[in-house]
Amino acid sequence: MRNFWLNMPTEIFFGRNQIEVLSKQLKKDGVKSVLLAYGHGSIKRSGLYDKIVSILNENSVKITELAGIDPNPRITSVAKGAELCRENKVDLIIAAGAGSVIDCCKAIAAARYYSGDPWDFFIRKTSVKKALPICAILTLAATGSEMNGGCVLTNEETQEKLPMGSVRLKPKFSILDPTYTFTLPKNQTVAGIADITSHVFEQYFSYPEAALQDYMSEAVLKTVIENAPIVLEEPENYDARANIMWAGTVALNGLLELGKDGDWATHMIEHELSAKYDITHGVGLAILTPSWMKKVLDSRNCSKFAKYGRNVWGITEKDDMKAALEAIEKTADFFKSLGLPQKLSEIGIDDSKFEEMAASALKNSRIGTFKELNKEDIVEIYRMSL
Ligand code: NZQ
Ligand code: ZN
Repeated sequence: MRNFWLNMPTEIFFGRNQIEVLSKQLKKDGVKSVLLAYGHGSIKRSGLYDKIVSILNENSVKITELAGIDPNPRITSVAKGAELCRENKVDLIIAAGAGSVIDCCKAIAAARYYSGDPWDFFIRKTSVKKALPICAILTLAATGSEMNGGCVLTNEETQEKLPMGSVRLKPKFSILDPTYTFTLPKNQTVAGIADITSHVFEQYFSYPEAALQDYMSEAVLKTVIENAPIVLEEPENYDARANIMWAGTVALNGLLELGKDGDWATHMIEHELSAKYDITHGVGLAILTPSWMKKVLDSRNCSKFAKYGRNVWGITEKDDMKAALEAIEKTADFFKSLGLPQKLSEIGIDDSKFEEMAASALKNSRIGTFKELNKEDIVEIYRMSL
């Protein structure tokens, strides 16, 4: 295991009605003016918006709204949000929604104190020196953004989707009420589940080996696999929603990657699809993951795939390569059982941009630590997913 630094400053308030803590938190921090950011209206339909506004009004907090943040959030919303924060002397950003809203708010929190183009953070022209505090009120279990310092933004002009991160962008506190996920449509629930499992794979299939991180990863996967069919059958099953929500947070709050070099190849390859075709992140991951697994599997690493198959899926095959192949089949079958698309062609993507996307994925960094991928490898993964 490598040396590591662990800093988890985000306070988590988990469970039914935890929104009630908001008032106390506002008082504690003497908050006077908030930016209330959200997406395209799901929080209005669910009643969450009214609840937040009433708490803010009770506390005489000035509210500035930033509505309409898109899935695959755009950098243009960041400049707008940062300007609103400056104009209104905002001292807390409330990100009410899913990963896209929280990610956008992180970029806004950093851009508030930066006079240049917010895209500079993503092309590594500058780094986060200071940021506004964020409260995330989560409505979809998927990204882990509610407890990590990462964000991923899209630049429509350049057709790029890039990540950036800083410990300064970890939310100050996050409210995770599983009942907020009851209103999710099935396609968003399953895309979130695919995203959670992919986060675990990106860290599990990486070096150096670390026992506890692996056992925890397997536990997160088992939790998601056991509870996924329940939430599909009973969208308002509190315990199943709660288990998936917490699994989503633990999957990407840093614990599973401690002392390891995460792989993240599937994510980098997927971000190209989201950037060029504006698809749902989890859907792209569900399609690419089995192809990535088959592409990188070899006689040296098959024991890791076999371990995953035996510990997570209960595979009893003794031969590592055969167990590994069975584990990959199980993974693909799991996504299929959730009704997720299996092929890029099913979501209207053809091979016309494969070369361009592979080149673009490699533009900013090397891809893959479990097995490094070159341009031809990435094109092949896209082709295997067609
Ligand atoms: O816009 P609204 O109306 O709120 O609707 C949203 C949106 O259409 C809807 N939704 C959310 N909660 C709902 C709901 N609908 C009904 N009831 C609810 N309770 O769901 C749609 C998708 O929202 P989005 O925020 O895009 O989903 P997700 O949380 O999956 O976030 C995906 C984004 O996060 C990035 C992805 O690349 C993608 O841009 N990621 C962020 C990461 C991070 N910060 O650590 C890591 C991830 O790997 C990922 O890359
Ligand atoms: Zn993801």
